[in-house]
Amino acid sequence: MIIKTKRFVLRPYKKSDKADLIKNINDKDIARFMSKVPHPYRHKDADIFLKKALNKKRKDGGSNLAIEIDGELVGGCKVHRDGHQAEIGYWLAKKHWGKGIATEVAKELAKYGFGKMKLKRLTAKVFLPNKASARVLEKNGFKLEGILKKDLAKGGKYYDVYLFARVK
Ligand SMILES: CC(C)(COP(=O)(O)OP(=O)(O)OC[C@H]1O[C@@H](n2cnc3c(N)ncnc32)[C@H](O)[C@@H]1OP(=O)(O)O)[C@@H](O)C(=O)NCCC(=O)NCCS
Repeated sequence: MIIKTKRFVLRPYKKSDKADLIKNINDKDIARFMSKVPHPYRHKDADIFLKKALNKKRKDGGSNLAIEIDGELVGGCKVHRDGHQAEIGYWLAKKHWGKGIATEVAKELAKYGFGKMKLKRLTAKVFLPNKASARVLEKNGFKLEGILKKDLAKGGKYYDVYLFARVK
């Protein structure tokens, strides 16, 4: 699946994304709110992720997608289907923060999830201090459903998260 807007392209990952991926995701302010992103982010982390992302292209289009701006991979997003629902997620290189891009990415994911993928429920899990991500979801009509205790594990610790959801 490929989604093009005026400001970015959402598209499947490519092997050649490795350098941009490492350059842009290797940031402690990104890793701290992503349960599966280590910091520092090494070559082997990119290799493992890209191998998985490249193998996981699904027929229904739901999967991991790169966020590309001006030919550069500057972020990632996902719609992981589980029956009639899917969990969404996203990250963006710091140089592009604060311009409404993640809000637009989430809008496109919701449009695709409720449209082509015919989903009935989209969810997102947010570390409690992650105000920017909570705001991105609120701006897209996601509602706070509650707090999941010790739901995400990172670096040997367990974190409570907000569960956001939007239903159709
Ligand atoms: C979360 C993230 C994707 C947001 O990207 P972005 O493109 O800067 O987001 P947007 O510009 O679309 O929207 C951010 C909103 O949060 C608000 N915001 C940002 N920091 C905030 C803070 N500390 N407190 C309160 N609101 C904040 C912004 O003002 C904006 O809301 P507004 O439009 O009402 O002013 C980006 O910060 C990121 O990649 N973070 C690290 C990874 C991550 O947390 N991913 C999400 C995991 S659930």
